[in-house]
Order: sequence, then C-alpha cells, then structure tokens
Amino acid sequence: MRLQGRNCLITGAGSGMGRVACLAFAREGARIIGADVDAAAGEQTLTSVRKEGGEGVFVQCDVSREADVSRLVAEGTKAFGALHVLYNNAGIFPEKDGSVVGADEAVWDRVFAVNVKGVALVCKHGIPELMRAGGGSVINIASFVALVGCSVAQDAYTASKGAVLALTKSLAVQFGPKGVRANAICPGPIETPLLMQWLLREPAEKAKRLNRIPMGRFGRPEDIVALAVHLASDDASWTNGGVFVVDGGITSNYF
Ligand SMILES: NC(=O)c1ccc[n+]([C@@H]2O[C@H](COP(=O)([O-])OP(=O)(O)OC[C@H]3O[C@@H](n4cnc5c(N)ncnc54)[C@H](O)[C@@H]3O)[C@@H](O)[C@H]2O)c1
Repeated sequence: MRLQGRNCLITGAGSGMGRVACLAFAREGARIIGADVDAAAGEQTLTSVRKEGGEGVFVQCDVSREADVSRLVAEGTKAFGALHVLYNNAGIFPEKDGSVVGADEAVWDRVFAVNVKGVALVCKHGIPELMRAGGGSVINIASFVALVGCSVAQDAYTASKGAVLALTKSLAVQFGPKGVRANAICPGPIETPLLMQWLLREPAEKAKRLNRIPMGRFGRPEDIVALAVHLASDDASWTNGGVFVVDGGITSNYF
C-alpha cells in the first residue's frame, strides 16, 4: 500500500475524478478528508470509502470561500492529527462559458473563484499543515485545454487552468525546499458528469472529439487517479513542479 499513514485532503470528492480518487487513495491505505460543496454527494463517497474498510471524513466546503476552506483544513487536521497531501480537484466548467468576446463577467468571476482562488485557498491553509507534518505533496488538477487552443472556446475555463499551472510552478519553487512538492496533472477529456452532461451529450459532438484522440476512447477517472496516487507517494519524492499530460495523445495530434 503506497499511501499507508498518509492523510489526504481531496476536493470535489462528490463526483467524477474526486470520488474515484477518494476510493483509490483509501485502497492504498490513505485516510481521506473529502470536501465538496454538495454535501449529499460527498457524504455518499465517504460512505463508500468506509464500506470498503477505508477511513475518512467528509467536510462540506465551497473552495471559493476562505471561511469554508479554513474550517476544512482545521477539521481535517483535527480528525487525523496531521495533513500530508492536498489534492486540488474541484473545478467547474459552466455551460455559459464561451469566447472571451461573448461570456458574461459573472462567468469569469465564478470560474476564477472556484478553479483558481479555490486552489490558492486550499494551499494557503493546507501547506502550513504539510510543513508541520514534515513535508507533503500538492496535486493540482489543470486541463489539456491550458496547453492547446480550441476552436470551441471556453475561455474562462481555459485561462483558469493556465493559472493553475503557473501557480503550481510557483508553489514548487517556494515550498520544495521545505519538503512540500507541487505538481499538476492536465487530463484530456474524461468521461465524468462534468463533461458528459452537456459537452458530449450530442453524438455528433462526441464523435468530433473522439476523432482527435489517438487512443480511440475518452479517458476514465482511473487514468488520472493512477498518476495522482504516484504523485502522492514516496515513489515521486523527487518529482516537483511537473506538468503531466494524461490525454490519450490528444495534445500531440496535429492531424
Ligand atoms: N472531465 C474532464 O474531461 C476534465 C478534463 C480536464 C480537467 N478536468 C478537471 O478535473 C477536475 C474534476 O473534474 P470532474 O470531471 O471529475 O468533475 P465533476 O463535475 O464530475 O466533479 C466536480 C466536483 O467538484 C465539486 N465542486 C464544484 N464546485 C465546488 C466548490 N466551489 N467547492 C467544492 N466543491 C466543488 C462538485 O460538486 C463535484 O462534486 C476539475 O477540476 C475539472 O476542471 C476535467
């Protein structure tokens, strides 16, 4: 078990990749502090973790609100005595996002509040706990759209994920010397509710994107979480400031 004795805070625990991460980390021996704005969904994930024999608590939290994040870190640390991993997975991708010349200001504000400020707040309150524990790992979920242009624009989302990459590099340099590593994962299109509920619900839209993926399928949450487990573990003890693309080859595909 690669995460035995590690206490791991995972945001966006109620759905998609966050839910799969809670279960996978627990199977590797981690204790889970699951956070989500959706209490029913997050509780359900932690119930599943415990049903499988894992250990974990759920804390309701909107990562864009500092009071919530501060309480999350305090409750998580109190539950298990220390924090070792921050897994910044919560993110939003609103249907109203679009081209920079069309999207409302409110969309930009909300996307940046959750996808960028949310990561920063979890780091603000969580990294001091990681240092107190003698070191740890920060895993930030960005996206392949931060690396390539897309003619179907989602500009607020794209810019927010670029900001996550830049922040990750800064964290790596600031806190590496204190034993805290920071890395980012850029998933390609993954079959989760976030993507399937609207962007890919039309078969033609789905086929258009599938054609671009050399591996011939969309990603599964497990494809991303497998790398996150590695980054959280001692196997990655010299991996810091990395940007890891896990996308079935979509960003390498010219034609
Ligand atoms: N699905 C994809 O194709 C894809 C691709 C690249 C990157 N990503 C990124 O991966 C991460 C997870 O995506 P997913 O597809 O599993 O999404 P999802 O929508 O299935 O799950 C996201 C979870 O985050 C929670 N959440 C939303 N806003 C929150 C907030 N303010 N505070 C706390 N929790 C909040 C939601 O309630 C939900 O449970 C996101 O950061 C997303 O941008 C997804």
